[in-house]
Amino acid sequence: MTDPARQDQRQDHQRQDQLKAELLAVALEAADRAGDLLRDGRPADLGVAATKSSAVDVVTEMDLASEKLITDFFAERRPGDGVLGEEGANHEGTSGVQWVIDPIDGTVNYLYGRPDWAVSIAARKDGETFVGVVHAPVRGETFRAVLGQGAYVGDTPLRVRTAPPFEQALVGTGFGYIAERRVRQAEVVAQLLPRVRDIRRGGSAAIDLCDVAAGRLDAYYERGLNPWDFAAGDLIAREAGARTGGRPGEPLSGELTVAGPPGLFEPLQSLLDGLGAWHD
Ligand code: IPD
Ligand code: CA
Repeated sequence: MTDPARQDQRQDHQRQDQLKAELLAVALEAADRAGDLLRDGRPADLGVAATKSSAVDVVTEMDLASEKLITDFFAERRPGDGVLGEEGANHEGTSGVQWVIDPIDGTVNYLYGRPDWAVSIAARKDGETFVGVVHAPVRGETFRAVLGQGAYVGDTPLRVRTAPPFEQALVGTGFGYIAERRVRQAEVVAQLLPRVRDIRRGGSAAIDLCDVAAGRLDAYYERGLNPWDFAAGDLIAREAGARTGGRPGEPLSGELTVAGPPGLFEPLQSLLDGLGAWHD
């Protein structure tokens, strides 16, 4: 005799796995299409369409075109889903699934023709990120993760580096666009730099989190991120074995984002908390 409760549970799992597989396929296709548009359609005279929080926080015509392509694609493939995008897309939806989209993470790199920029797409449901895709066309890399199913770059499984001694850690970070915040961020990094191997500032938070997942950085932290910057990369880092969070005991947020392998994450998080990396 089959236990009906168990059978229900099994069916729930199956339905959830099917949903995750569908969301991953849709996210990969959207990211691929947007990536082609951005890589192949980048005008030689790319200009700034608008600025956001400050004169150096730019939006290009291609950020806007990429977000439109992605949201149009979701409207066609998954019309009931909600969307939240960096360039203003914000729609509730009815399915319980919400897409969190950064149409170009690393806009300043893109503007200057530097390679480290990505399309970042995450799907959330019931407060959890189910799927994350970070597609970096010029690097020729697509990072992906499904909750509970591991993280990959292409078909290669991702694994964080084992925690090194603190003073040997290569730590990525980033800086906000507002001058007052940067003053504080500079003070924090000045305290951290003498205590670690070195610091990297790549220019795309989504790629930084994937680099932790791939063992190309030992750890990463930043204050002032938005959900579209970290949603996909956070899942990819966690599925590769990283711990992620904000201040000690808090989930990662705009206040503070920290990622690293167990053994390095905890002392880094605690040091950053003590240095006041979470406030301006
Ligand atoms: C920025 C990048 C950068 C980080 C900034 C983000 P954008 O996103 O992720 O690395 O330091 O905090 O705002 O503006 O290029 O989409
Ligand atoms: Ca961004």
